[in-house]
Amino acid sequence: MKPILLDTRLRLDRIRAARQVIDPIYLDTPQYECDALGRRLGCAVTVKLETANPVRSFKGRGTELVASQLTEQGRTAVVCASAGNLGQALAWSGRRRGLEVTVVAPRSAPAAKLDRIRALGAELELVAGDFEAARERAVSLARERDVRLVEDSLDIETCEGAATIGLELASRAAPVDAVLIALGGGAMATGVGFVVKSLLPGVEVICVQPAGAPAMTRSWHERRVVTTESADTIADGVAGRYPIAAVLDDLLEVADDAVLVQEESIVAGMRLLLEHAGLVVEPSAALGVAAVLEDRDRFAGRHVATVVCGSNVDMDAYRRWVRV
Ligand SMILES: Cc1ncc(COP(=O)(O)O)c(C=O)c1O
Repeated sequence: MKPILLDTRLRLDRIRAARQVIDPIYLDTPQYECDALGRRLGCAVTVKLETANPVRSFKGRGTELVASQLTEQGRTAVVCASAGNLGQALAWSGRRRGLEVTVVAPRSAPAAKLDRIRALGAELELVAGDFEAARERAVSLARERDVRLVEDSLDIETCEGAATIGLELASRAAPVDAVLIALGGGAMATGVGFVVKSLLPGVEVICVQPAGAPAMTRSWHERRVVTTESADTIADGVAGRYPIAAVLDDLLEVADDAVLVQEESIVAGMRLLLEHAGLVVEPSAALGVAAVLEDRDRFAGRHVATVVCGSNVDMDAYRRWVRV
């Protein structure tokens, strides 16, 4: 079947080519139907597991592209703002290539993420406030030092890297009915959504965000950038407040729906992933399961895929939430 043409910044040929650049350790991740979880949720559930790699999240796919491009350009340093996972992934990709990586992160980010960024040899600058404060500081730091700023979801490589997950999902012998994707800045949802919609237009692409950090979801529904004053969620990986217009445009083209879920459902999702799939995940990775829990009728008897996109969580917080 010929791919459907979608009007976004993404292109299938570039995403296919990205697979040649990304370290294979991030590619062809496990995807399997998890019977026990499906029985509990009342629908078939395919888990796409993005946590069994050196940085325990999908972000390595994008940082591999960014870092290899910087090396080709002869650059030696790079700066990014991060809630934790992009920074860790960029530190990993940069270290292998001898790049000096500086990550600006909120002081409140999980210690598990911050410790790993440092352990991977990156310079870590912590700021008061949330991810948006880190983003502002990273912009000025990159300008002061005259080095490349990696902007997650805006820089096309971050979307293309995530989009390679879509190629793998689309290669399943039998397509699923819906793909549930955690929505933060939008790199993953626009990337995966683009590939799924291009190759399997009948598959529903559903983005999931916490009700406590709804900026991108509200923007998608109102078809314009909507910012919020604050974000209040345990899902630190998706807690942005300022959606990027170009990313929203892409999301409008590829997503069929964007839904919000409650904190209790995120915690219940984490618990179900532990009990029925044996997976310890960070809150953002439980958003898909949370969406099914909140709208069982919508998914009853259907087959959904959910991207289990990260497992960098402080164990004390995890035990408190999941009560293990
Ligand atoms: C574990 C996890 N899930 C979801 C997201 C959201 O992804 P995106 O910002 O590409 O929308 C992130 C972002 O860092 C993340 O780390």
